[in-house]
Amino acid sequence: MKDAATRAPRNRTLFLEPGDDVRFVPEPLPEHPREGAYVGDALDLLTRIPEGAVPLLFADPPYNKGKDFGNNRDRRSDYAEWTARWLDLARRSLAPTGSIYVCSSWEQSGLLHRLLEERFVVRNRITWKRDKGRGARANWKNLMEDIWFATVGPRYVFNVEAVMVRKPVIAPYRRSDGSPKDWAETAEGRFRRTHPSNVWTDLCVPFWSMPENTPHPAQKPERLVERILAASSNPGDLIVDPFLGSGTSAVVARKLGRRFLGVELNPEYVRLALKRMARIS
Ligand SMILES: C[S@@+](CC[C@H](N)C(=O)[O-])C[C@H]1O[C@@H](n2cnc3c(N)ncnc32)[C@H](O)[C@@H]1O
Repeated sequence: MKDAATRAPRNRTLFLEPGDDVRFVPEPLPEHPREGAYVGDALDLLTRIPEGAVPLLFADPPYNKGKDFGNNRDRRSDYAEWTARWLDLARRSLAPTGSIYVCSSWEQSGLLHRLLEERFVVRNRITWKRDKGRGARANWKNLMEDIWFATVGPRYVFNVEAVMVRKPVIAPYRRSDGSPKDWAETAEGRFRRTHPSNVWTDLCVPFWSMPENTPHPAQKPERLVERILAASSNPGDLIVDPFLGSGTSAVVARKLGRRFLGVELNPEYVRLALKRMARIS
């Protein structure tokens, strides 16, 4: 991981610094985990959670692209079998009214769709236009990721009011008395409140000038996870993340008053997660 010493002056990235090794001490996953961010394997976490205990599971697994995650490399020949295995365990851990979100690259999206349909009711595929990608000479630059949304059954939490979107009005229709129809005049302009869609174009990948940014190579934006947790969980609910990375879901869960349980294979990423969590009062 890069560190604070090599940081450019305006770089606001949150690095691990001297002293953090004693301030933030990652602990191994306990036998009976309840809440917290631990070092451990996703399969162990999902095996140890009591059956039916989880209202919402957010999973941002490795995409099998060979990325270097410090103490583990994102490449396995049994990716499909391994994904099926942790999805089975995830299904077991979820409440009958539970929901699951799984992030995916386009390459793994077909596999994910099939495996999710075999175990859950697939509700949607969100496309996130992440606005950052590597150019290619003989291919289209990839600027998107998928986020699959599925539920255990027909009843599930969806707080649509918490994620309504404010959009500028293009056609400002008025009623016969001249009052605005379905829109409002504000100091910043004319806006309409509308339902959130499955194409997310307003969230960029965290980068160096953002205080939420860390040296983790595949960090999700807090606002992306916030949208998911706000829509699909209630205050006090337990959020589980089996691939915690730099701790984005743990931070957002704390900000939104949810409880949190997650694991990550790399102890240095768990240390980062603990540092991020400590900054929220
Ligand atoms: C795509 S990243 C998650 C990023 C995270 N959402 C964030 O915002 O920082 C996937 C993470 O899974 C971790 N990982 C890989 N295999 C794992 C396993 N078997 N159990 C737990 N974590 C694992 C990797 O070390 C990596 O940090």
